[in-house]
Amino acid sequence: MSKKRDTWSSRLGIIMAVAGSAVGLGNFLRFPGQVAQNGGGAFMIPYFVSLFLLGIPLMWIEWTLGRFGGGFEHGTAPGIFHSLWEKNRFIKYFGVIGIFGPLVIFIYYTYIESWTLAYSFFALFGKYNQATNQTSMQAFLRGFQGLEKNQFFSGGLGVAYIFFLITFILNCWVIFYGIKRGIEKLCNIAMPLLFIFGIGLMIRVLTLGVPNAGKPDWNIINGLGFLWNPDFSALKSAKVWLAAAGQIFFTLSVGIGVILTYASYLSKADDVVLSGLTAVSTNEMAEVILGGSIVIPAAFVFFGPTEIGNIARSGMFNLGFVTMPLVLSKLHFANLFGFVWFMLLFLAGVTSSVSLAQPAVAFLEDEFDIDRKKAVGIFTIVSFILCQAPIFFLSKGVVDELDFWGGTLFLVLFATVETILFAWVFGMERAWKEVHYGAKMQVPRVYKFIIKYITPLFLLIILGFWFYQEWIPVIFMKNISQGAKPYILFTRLGLLLVFIILVILVKLAWRRRMNIKKGGAK
Ligand code: ALA
Repeated sequence: MSKKRDTWSSRLGIIMAVAGSAVGLGNFLRFPGQVAQNGGGAFMIPYFVSLFLLGIPLMWIEWTLGRFGGGFEHGTAPGIFHSLWEKNRFIKYFGVIGIFGPLVIFIYYTYIESWTLAYSFFALFGKYNQATNQTSMQAFLRGFQGLEKNQFFSGGLGVAYIFFLITFILNCWVIFYGIKRGIEKLCNIAMPLLFIFGIGLMIRVLTLGVPNAGKPDWNIINGLGFLWNPDFSALKSAKVWLAAAGQIFFTLSVGIGVILTYASYLSKADDVVLSGLTAVSTNEMAEVILGGSIVIPAAFVFFGPTEIGNIARSGMFNLGFVTMPLVLSKLHFANLFGFVWFMLLFLAGVTSSVSLAQPAVAFLEDEFDIDRKKAVGIFTIVSFILCQAPIFFLSKGVVDELDFWGGTLFLVLFATVETILFAWVFGMERAWKEVHYGAKMQVPRVYKFIIKYITPLFLLIILGFWFYQEWIPVIFMKNISQGAKPYILFTRLGLLLVFIILVILVKLAWRRRMNIKKGGAK
């Protein structure tokens, strides 16, 4: 290829960008909800087991594979998988998942991210202050989402759509400026700010004391206890183990394809071992310390032990957009704290969504030799069209459907393929050497065994369980209401079409490559 690929300007830059991709809505909303629903402190046992056996190995695998692929001017999975196993004609098509997955997540993630931007303004200007309990705050949210008109929010979907446009344009604008001048700059500003906001909120929550004078038990220690007191019986449930592994994938952004792309802009001499580990540690700090100390303990001291169970079970949107604004509205400087909370979510969201956009853009640039501006233009048009489905059919469960395929199942499938390719096809000896080029530290030797045997086995067990328990209800839409079925079917057909188009593009890209080679050989 003739063009020079973009690069990161510094080691800190790529660490910030990968940490930015990892730290997202998953850390502050999904994580506390998962802990509270799956055995409290006991959830942390499968969580940390998954971190050490899946998360950290996959982070190293993806950083290494990305850097390896970048050496062949491939920044996405089709090219990287092909470089690993040149003799296999089909492996590049598996790599399509590494473009498809992030694209699918991007099309609903950006919409949810735009709610956090909208709510930042609502908080600052006291827009939801009239909603003073769960029911009215829920009504405000439904009004904002365009699902109903009510006294708390009667503006229809228009406001949400404007904020979506702002968020979408901002994302495209950042990727338009590229790796160094766009993504790296954004993360260098957003990540420190995010930590300042997160630490500020955590301190405020931990110093809440007993806001309900008549309820001395509704205190912050018991609030932390609600989240962290272990219920060891949960460890016997396969569901809890799956939930923990799923959270690790989601939060670290592994198995998606974005880290492959980010790492492809490294050079061979760049360290991946320490950098990967630093990115994981930053994410875990944001998740376990900040994510675990804000939402649930804060809700506990205001709503007490009975109500908090229902709140935790009601899902991450309710935690973030209903419970938290209510809790924060009870503090001094309520508008300011509300703003800080939603800005924190927005910063976490935008540094993740730009990473989700990057694989599709890199694919067009690397495999079709299209320049960045054009590639971002194509991405903008295509993803804008796709984004309309979650906006207009939110009530039909389209977001959940996209999250299931793009953000859950395909992620595990992709991780399984890449781990097997890395450890078994590329070969563990070569892989181990590849990991350690330019390394600033040695990976503990036990990981040679873990990556070769434990990680793939663990992944295969997860996939096996999923097929055993879920494939019939999922395929036949057993848990979907009659009214929503046509929309879900339409979403699935749409996803299939996107996947097929990507497969065709890979085919065309390789044909083009062959023609260039032949032309060069003449
Ligand atoms: N890793 C990102 C998150 O946690 C996707 O939200």
